[in-house]
Formats: sequence, structure tokens, C-alpha cells
Amino acid sequence: MAGEAFVTLATNDNYAKGAMVLGRSLRNHNTTKKLVALIGLQVAEPCRTVLSSLYDEVCVVDILDSGDAAHLAMMKRPDLGVTFTKLHCWTLTRYSKCVFMDADTMVLSNIDELFDREELSAAPDPGWPDCFNSGVFVFKPSNETYNKLLALCTETGSFDGGDQGVLNSYFNTWATADISKHLPFIYNLSSIAIYSYLPAFKQYGRDAKVVHFLGKMKPWNYSYNPQSGQVKGHSLPSDLRQVHPDYLTLWWELYTNYVLPALRQAYGQTAFNTGCVEEEVSVAAGELSAPAPPHPPQVSSEERKQRWEAGQADYMGADSFDNIERKLDSFLK
Ligand code: UDP
Ligand code: GLC
Ligand code: MN
Repeated sequence: MAGEAFVTLATNDNYAKGAMVLGRSLRNHNTTKKLVALIGLQVAEPCRTVLSSLYDEVCVVDILDSGDAAHLAMMKRPDLGVTFTKLHCWTLTRYSKCVFMDADTMVLSNIDELFDREELSAAPDPGWPDCFNSGVFVFKPSNETYNKLLALCTETGSFDGGDQGVLNSYFNTWATADISKHLPFIYNLSSIAIYSYLPAFKQYGRDAKVVHFLGKMKPWNYSYNPQSGQVKGHSLPSDLRQVHPDYLTLWWELYTNYVLPALRQAYGQTAFNTGCVEEEVSVAAGELSAPAPPHPPQVSSEERKQRWEAGQADYMGADSFDNIERKLDSFLK
């Protein structure tokens, strides 16, 4: 029987770091499946070297871009047009079945049992649960499906400007036809959902098998202090800390303990240290390539309001008690 593989995608060095952590997490949990990384030409040579040490195959693919600024603007994610590149995964016909995982996911246990599922199995999207989230899905490579998907992209485009819109239009009976194709949410637990339905998270969160850092703010946009084990600008409310591991810190632990040493070696000490303050103890994931956004990235006051309303307050930063107190004081004066 042909092989089975986990597949991910990284079109640039930042997402490549995500793919490294994902690959490491799959290996740490002893997957018996092959690992395949689809990458863009833009991914730097040393990053490819590290990816090759973790993945069985690293395949360079053409970047497919929806170029659909209007729909992407609705998601406030102009960067996601390139996620059309994900569709290349259907061309991996040397495998009989695959599980695609976004580069911003990380596994917390062995999930090889996903290969018992059929195409197209996926978990509900936290924003619109009648759609599946395309960050984790089971699929069957097929050139025929690939061509039909591309035809759909050309003919009708994607309602969100990215792969998830077009995949939901193609596999449009997912919501109703076969409940076995609904993956439990624990296979694609998005960080957003943690805050939007806290009691459910407290009840079921401990069973999480895959964490998905969905949204603009990715783990590699933060920086980390390995001495204190703290991710800068991030802290969980203490009641949450008691019920589940801090996934962002877990991501950074994997990154610092496994990925960073490999990257340092691949880049060579000199090249790698360029631009870094030697004495500084914190490690910025962005130090290897394009500068990372400020830590944490500046958000507009509208966006901050939305996050606040969704329960995603920046407790350590802009929404810290000190800041709020200062604001109140200024109103009262
Ligand atoms: N991706 C990529 N380069 C990009 C944007 C996205 O390689 O510039 C890939 C990567 O695998 C990523 C996936 O497409 O995980 C989907 O994008 P993202 O995770 O940012 O979307 P979200 O889950 O936040 O909606
Ligand atoms: C989603 C998914 C992501 C997908 C993007 C664009 O939010 O999490 O995997 O690439 O939308 O469609
Ligand atoms: Mn994602």
C-alpha cells in the first residue's frame, strides 16, 4: 500500500519556523507517517536544511495566489492569497492518504488515528461552524481533484480569498452529509476558541491534540526569554493557567530547545548572530530573516476593541491594569 503522510506548507522563512516546530512536535509524539513540507522558492537555504532534517520530503512548489484583495480585506488578512498554494497538496499522488496541517499548528499527542478518516474530514471553523477550518484536514491526493479545485478557483474564485473558501465550496456537503467527516474540535483547537467559550474549554480543553495559532498574531511574532520561560507580552489569566498548559509557551519551548540549535548550526554562528544583541537573553524568532513585527505588533484601537470584546485582552500590555487605571484617572481629572 502506498504511504501516508502529514503535509504542511511554508512559503517563507517565518512559516518555515512554524513548520519546524510542527515537524518536531509530530516526531516527538512518534508518528509512524511520512512528513512532507511544501515550500516556496523564497525559503532560505539554511531553513530548507533544517526542514530536511525533520521532514522526509521537502518539495518546492509554485506559489499560487488568489490575488483577491477584496475578499482578503474582509478577513483583514491581505497576506492569505498565497494559501491557494495549499491546493498543491492534492498532487502528492505517491501517497494514498494525507493529513494537511497549517504551519501554525502544533500537536500535543500522537494523532496517527486521523488516517482512519476519509476525505474530506476536518473540524468546524470557530468563526462559522457550518464551514470546516482548513488548518487541519484529511484528504486523498488526486490529480483530478487538484484540477477541479484549480478550475473552481479560476471560475468562481474563493469567498474568503484563501484556500478555506474554495475548499468549502468544493466539499460543500461536509456540514450535512457524513458526521464521521467532522473531526472533533480537539484536532484543531484554535486559540480564539479558548477565549470565546471558556467553560467549554475548561471542560474539554485538556483533551486537545492539536493547537492552531489561528489569526494574525503567530507564535514567531513574539519573543521569548529562555531563562524565565516567559513569552514577552503574553500571559494567561491565572484561572486559565490552572486548567491547561500555556500553548504559546509550549511552542516556544519546542522552538528554543530543538529548532533554534539546528538553525544556529545551519546558518553558522556568525551569520546567525548578525543583528542580535549578544548580551540579550531573549530570543526573537524573527532574527533569522525578515524583521518580525514589533512585540507584540501594534493593533489599531478598533482591533483592540474587537479583541477585548472577544475576551482576548492584552493583559500584560495595552490592557494591563496599570494602563486602564491611568486611562480612568485621565477621564476623572
Ligand atoms: N502560509 C504560508 N505563507 C504565508 C501565509 C500562509 O506558507 O504567507 C501557509 C501556512 O502553512 C499557514 C497556512 O498557509 O499556516 C494558512 O495561513 P495562516 O495559518 O496564516 O491562516 P490562519 O490559520 O491564521 O487563518
Ligand atoms: C482560515 C484557515 C487557514 C486558511 C485561511 C484562508 O482561517 O485557518 O488555514 O488558509 O483561512 O482561507
Ligand atoms: Mn493557520
